[in-house]
Amino acid sequence: MTQQYGDYQLQIYADGLRGVLPVLPMTFSDLEERAKAVLPPAIWSYVAGGSGDEHTQRANVNAFGQWGLMPRMMVGAERRDLSIDLFGMRLSTPLFMAPVGVIGLCAQDGHGDLATARAAARTGVPMMASTFSVDPMESVAKELGDSTGFFQLYTPTDRALAESMVQRAESAGFKAIVVTLDTWITGWRPRDLATSNFPQLRGLCLANYISDPVFRAALPRSPEQDMPGAVAHFAKIFGNPLTWDDMPWLRSLTKLPLILKGICHPEDVRRAKDAGADGIYCSTHGGRQANGGLPALDALPGVLDAADGLPVLFDSGIRSGADIVKALAFGATAVGVGRPYAYGLALGGTDGIVHVLRSLLAEADLIMAVDGYPTLADLTPQSLLRLR
Ligand SMILES: Cc1cc2nc3c(=O)[nH]c(=O)nc-3n(C[C@H](O)[C@H](O)[C@H](O)COP(=O)(O)O)c2cc1C
Repeated sequence: MTQQYGDYQLQIYADGLRGVLPVLPMTFSDLEERAKAVLPPAIWSYVAGGSGDEHTQRANVNAFGQWGLMPRMMVGAERRDLSIDLFGMRLSTPLFMAPVGVIGLCAQDGHGDLATARAAARTGVPMMASTFSVDPMESVAKELGDSTGFFQLYTPTDRALAESMVQRAESAGFKAIVVTLDTWITGWRPRDLATSNFPQLRGLCLANYISDPVFRAALPRSPEQDMPGAVAHFAKIFGNPLTWDDMPWLRSLTKLPLILKGICHPEDVRRAKDAGADGIYCSTHGGRQANGGLPALDALPGVLDAADGLPVLFDSGIRSGADIVKALAFGATAVGVGRPYAYGLALGGTDGIVHVLRSLLAEADLIMAVDGYPTLADLTPQSLLRLR
């Protein structure tokens, strides 16, 4: 019989019988606490922090507590199927790793982008590779094995550079382009401001720029000769305040599926759809960008309604398998995590990420087993009750 995600618990209990106990945390709060202890303080605060007083960040998480899944009995959910279709690809899981720009620095060897790609290869959980990385996208793609990678683009003001990055992503084998719309400017982040810490301005995680022929051609001296000059140029071209008028150009950049990240308003979904987007990515950037107070989960039903069948990816606040099941029950096609896998990486490298992903999937799978939802199609908004 093929393995199911919930079998991860059998492996852990079987190890226990041999006297081997888990070395990695089993809950998000332990994961967070232990990651804090091992990460350099500047990286910890950059990853853990959010915008303003972090109200949106907490609201993203707390929103899941407003909903409960109705158990159904005598369903015989002995086998569960968590696989999904996305852009014509059959993926074994509805979970993916959201783009995390400093993931490279969360690894103890400083190559977290590669470790993340290896975790994708081991688990089949797709990786969205950020524009910001320690290793260039071509090196990251090589570590993905048979697993799926998506490339996340921060659209620079230099259109030729955007085109070059997208072409490189296509050539490297990434399967979709994710354009992040909510970060053309950095949100107000008190934790980072208090330590005047913005890693990219210190020349970190810029490999995709420094390795790019268009970026290099715009510099009077090479980054190897003049890194401060390269960083200054990066700062100048980084953020493009896109409008819907830019959509035809963005669409023309690639034949790969184009996903727009950061969309919460139904009207924006309709405009994205009309302009040829292949997927909508509902997210509040984990509460890192605007402290406006809206949890991403509360925006999800409106987004799904307007998407009207277009795939909807979701992230922000997912901390457990129960959260994954709830987002899927609302109707999300796929569900992303950010900080949880960054903390797993900090604690245990590729093994740490694999543990976090397997734990999330195991819990989701076991909830579906216990509560009688053998397939994702069985999970619908009617499976959820709003709690008082
Ligand atoms: C440290 C950090 C860096 C991030 N960098 C990026 C990035 O480069 N591109 C992007 O689109 N989103 C980025 N995000 C946002 C994530 O893709 C995702 O939306 C968010 O982490 C989801 O929320 P969660 O952390 O609550 O799971 C980053 C998030 C974190 C925590």
